[in-house]
Amino acid sequence: MVEAMSIPVTKTGHSNLDKVDFKHLGFGKYFSDHMLEADYVNGEWTNVNIRPYQALGFLPALSVLHYSQTIFEGQKAHKDEKGNIHIFRPHENWKRMNRSAERLAMPQVPEEIFIDGMKQLIELDKDFIPSGYDESLYIRPFLFATEETLGVKESSSYKFLIITGPVGSYFSAPARIYVEEKYTRAAPGGTGAAKTGGNYAASLLSSAEAKKQGYDQVLWMDALEHKYVQEVGAMNIMFMIGDTIVTPDLTDGTILNGITRMSLIEAFEEKGYKVEERKVSIDELVEAYRTGQLKEVFGCGTAATISHVKELKYKDLVMEFDVDSMKVSADMKKYLLDYKENLHGDPHGWLEKV
Ligand code: COI
Repeated sequence: MVEAMSIPVTKTGHSNLDKVDFKHLGFGKYFSDHMLEADYVNGEWTNVNIRPYQALGFLPALSVLHYSQTIFEGQKAHKDEKGNIHIFRPHENWKRMNRSAERLAMPQVPEEIFIDGMKQLIELDKDFIPSGYDESLYIRPFLFATEETLGVKESSSYKFLIITGPVGSYFSAPARIYVEEKYTRAAPGGTGAAKTGGNYAASLLSSAEAKKQGYDQVLWMDALEHKYVQEVGAMNIMFMIGDTIVTPDLTDGTILNGITRMSLIEAFEEKGYKVEERKVSIDELVEAYRTGQLKEVFGCGTAATISHVKELKYKDLVMEFDVDSMKVSADMKKYLLDYKENLHGDPHGWLEKV
């Protein structure tokens, strides 16, 4: 067995742990004491180290600020009853980050830096891991272009960082979602399947407009026909139509290949549900709603876990759902949260010990 890489550490002299309000965590508000850093320069990874979470120095020509060559991941770690720490499927995130890197013409991040570095970082900041229901240590690896240039080309240098922080639920209540007809998120051949900042930046105007109408997020439709649903702002989407779990398929490269999505498909099938990954048209959803067959609607993602949808607005039709009756996805949410806390003994091999 190859030994895990040992990364030099500079420890902080003043911990921020006492500034964390563990009773009101929210999402993305608090950051642990340390971060992992690595630089890619002259075709090689260098300067791999862990140091206190702090400001980065950069000049205004930093190319990521101009042309958005940047990618990220979202992951979670939990403590089990014995105090062991597990990360949920980190190798899937590592592989996805490298697929995003390929699409954005960026270098591959080696496993020793991404996985071993992450484990070392989490071990160091383990006191930040919260223990409440649907709480976790959120892990945010990201890679961005650091060349100072205004030329439009792939950067010759990059910085990779991992920061972490304690989080609670991403959505505090069931979501009200607006089916977006004016703007689109991704077209075939674009960057929809990559986890890149630009996809999120381009979604902000649409969600701001949805918010003005009282909605939390938008459900994207395909860019060519405005007919098939794709995903929601910060999560994939699933429906229970009749007895079948249905979710948009990934074949045209417009939808993010969610690790939670992939895990739920496996878990639903294992529990005996029929799962269909296929095109899902908005007309099919409206028809299923009208005939009473659209039983459950829920988003899924690392940050969101499983988030129920209580309202879906399409044109003049407001589809309302009784979230309390969404038992199949509620049971699955509990299964997944318990699984991450190692209460099921890891039959799928999804947990990696720190
Ligand atoms: C995640 O689920 O981790 C995500 O990346 C969503 C994020 C944009 C909040």
